[in-house]
Amino acid sequence: MLDIKIVRTTEPKAKPQDESKLGFGKIFTDHMFLMDYTADEGWHDARVVPYASLPMDPATVVFHYAQEIFEGMKAYRTADGSVQLFRPDCNAKRFQDSADRLCIPKIPVEDFVQAVETLVDVDRDWVPHSDGASLYIRPFVFANDVGLGVHASKHYLFCIICAPSGAYYAEGLDPVRIYVEDEYIRAAPGLTGFTKCGGNYAASIKAGELAEEKGFSQVLWLDGVEKKYVEEVGSMNIMFKIDGKIYTAACTGTVLPGVTRRSIIELLKDWGYEVIEGKLAIADVMKAAEEGKLEEVFGTGTAAVVSPVKELDWEGKVANISGGKIGPLTQKLYDTLTGIQWGKLPDTKGWTVKVEPKV
Ligand code: COI
Repeated sequence: MLDIKIVRTTEPKAKPQDESKLGFGKIFTDHMFLMDYTADEGWHDARVVPYASLPMDPATVVFHYAQEIFEGMKAYRTADGSVQLFRPDCNAKRFQDSADRLCIPKIPVEDFVQAVETLVDVDRDWVPHSDGASLYIRPFVFANDVGLGVHASKHYLFCIICAPSGAYYAEGLDPVRIYVEDEYIRAAPGLTGFTKCGGNYAASIKAGELAEEKGFSQVLWLDGVEKKYVEEVGSMNIMFKIDGKIYTAACTGTVLPGVTRRSIIELLKDWGYEVIEGKLAIADVMKAAEEGKLEEVFGTGTAAVVSPVKELDWEGKVANISGGKIGPLTQKLYDTLTGIQWGKLPDTKGWTVKVEPKV
């Protein structure tokens, strides 16, 4: 159990009045969580302090070699005014897996969850009240040794910030157009595809920008070896309903093991769907579309929630999906998942964790 010191701000910011205009990750709350690591002391000095800039030496390791990992999670306000998290232990565990790959010292699962709960409790008034809006939580760790040698750092900072947010895509729940990337790759076996490290996202920006210029919301990445099999989309995992069955890439090292992904798979299995986690060739997806068997396509992610896809473009071919509308299964998954997250449906799975008022 961490001993977390709390220093409250004396200058609280004005909270957003119009929650329909929050956007995603643009406004930040009054406080942040910080904890230092040194080789001698381990993780120490856990504290919640007023949100502020972090002074850093230009030679700090993370600026040069990107030794950094992050997480994405949300706090939701329920009808009775309480605040809850969704499977925070899953984020904590994935943070450890990312840390291991990036040679960053691990944070115990219970300390990670306690840090998130404490910060959300301090900033609980910032958790939005309106439908579809939530408090997006961004935990991250970066190397803060000062020096230019390439090796594991001996100093790290763990930081958590929070942003009251609406939908990730400007489209909201309207279906998005996705460009199937056939030149650049996101991951390859042995690399860092399964982690949430900033470097994965840095390497993805060029393809994302080019796709956006052509009017697409995001790219769909193919496997990095043969550029044949579907893997994931820039900010979410992706699932295909073909002839009644659900297909998604397996988590074998190149795909992010999404918390939303695994929750959706559990729901689908409960509802009797066959879910196939494995290799799915993009050529087979396009063929299924031609044959009228590609029934629905949707992305899953913490920020994106469940996001319908209306179009896939690959090597000049276009697959139109669900007549450009959200499919019935996608809608049911969205309603069920958000129903559990916002406390409107019973949580029979024990996925939600109430943030008890303590501070
Ligand atoms: C999330 O879904 O929480 C993520 O971290 C994706 C990010 C690109 C917004």
